[in-house]
Amino acid sequence: MLTTVPRGTKDILPDTIHEWLYLENKIRTLCALYGFNEIRTPIFEHTELFMRGIGETTDVVEKEMYTFPDRGGRSITLRPENTASVVRAYLQNKLYANGSINKFFYIGSMFRYDKPQAGRYREFHQFGVEAIGEQSPLIDAEVISLGDALLKGLGLKDILLKINSVGCPKCRPVYREKLQAFFKDKFAELCKDCQSRYTRNPLRILDCKNPHCKELAEGAPEITDYLCDDCASHFSELQESLTNLGIDFVLDSHLVRGLDYYTKTAFEFKYLPLGAQSAILGGGRYDGLIEECGGDSTPAVGFATGLERVLLALETQKLLPVQNSACDVFIIALGKKAEQAAIKILQQLRSNNLSALMDYAGRSMKSQMKQANKNGAKYAVIIGDNELATANAIVRNMKDSEQMAVPFAALIDKIIFEVNKQ
Ligand code: HAM
Repeated sequence: MLTTVPRGTKDILPDTIHEWLYLENKIRTLCALYGFNEIRTPIFEHTELFMRGIGETTDVVEKEMYTFPDRGGRSITLRPENTASVVRAYLQNKLYANGSINKFFYIGSMFRYDKPQAGRYREFHQFGVEAIGEQSPLIDAEVISLGDALLKGLGLKDILLKINSVGCPKCRPVYREKLQAFFKDKFAELCKDCQSRYTRNPLRILDCKNPHCKELAEGAPEITDYLCDDCASHFSELQESLTNLGIDFVLDSHLVRGLDYYTKTAFEFKYLPLGAQSAILGGGRYDGLIEECGGDSTPAVGFATGLERVLLALETQKLLPVQNSACDVFIIALGKKAEQAAIKILQQLRSNNLSALMDYAGRSMKSQMKQANKNGAKYAVIIGDNELATANAIVRNMKDSEQMAVPFAALIDKIIFEVNKQ
């Protein structure tokens, strides 16, 4: 136990961290282009926020939350997603006071007590965006286009964008009734979860992964046939914008998403080879959530993507960057006095923005040279008794093995010159 992480969590080790940084840099660059600003909210919140925000009958709230009383007896939950937290921060900090749209993005850990498997973890990382304060379908299109630009910009192929409208509190009840009527005589055949969804949230039956429930749902009435005028025109304007932007999509009337706050637009980018974990990015509009959390009625739309799933897709398509951990200079110091000279040179090189390493264990020249090679050093600087006596260091170009003696006084400038020349 002491040397094992909890099930469903992972260490991200130095040999893969460059993949995360690569992805995060792409995300930050893109968010700056689209005018989304970073927000960081606490890893844990009051449990009630997620119960109210995400919906008490969702799988996330019913089965997957890490909820515990803190030492003061308050019920605390590790965030299973970040939309509710961003809404809480928006309200608490009165970010609506600027009177215009607020566009946020976040990158961070989320926690769900899921069944761990490839692409499904108990601690996972999401990049998400939330655009709060605008009802135009143009912003739905912008949010989707950001997701599209990220995935395409990473070079990913075979990504499928599915969109749907899940209606609003005005038109959804009518559809709910139609759906209940459709499933009425199939009720006994539905899985246990779907039987309880039947009364509480029948739309979720459409999203059930159970193959028999999927079969039963074939031919179910389509929500898009029951949308009110406002939802229908919103959906058709969104489609017009996506077409105009050259973003391919398919309509999927069974796409209902797993969180209760959605209204109107729902969408998912799928990478089918990931099987049950094929949803790599999902989101939609949530025009009722801000009011549900105690604010004024405010429209909003966003998405989140699982970074582990994006990295898996990049790995499958051989699109991950290679690690570049080469250092500029490795100092080979032979003897105690030389080591003191070496740490000073290290300090000067680093303060001149050159990466520099040395050995601290007094190893042999041969072994230190090996380390210089292993670290991909462009140059080795050799200092031994002889060099100290003549106040000259040996500078060795590791590529062509050329060596030259350089006076200590000129050493830093010479190395800077040589490294920049390469
Ligand atoms: P979600 O569909 O629950 O939506 O999660 C978004 C993405 O997070 C999924 O598409 C998937 O890539 C990733 N994900 C979810 N659960 C796991 C897991 N256990 N392991 C690995 N990755 C996972 C939301 O979270 C909404 N807050 C999205 C949103 C933002 N809607 C509007 N604004």
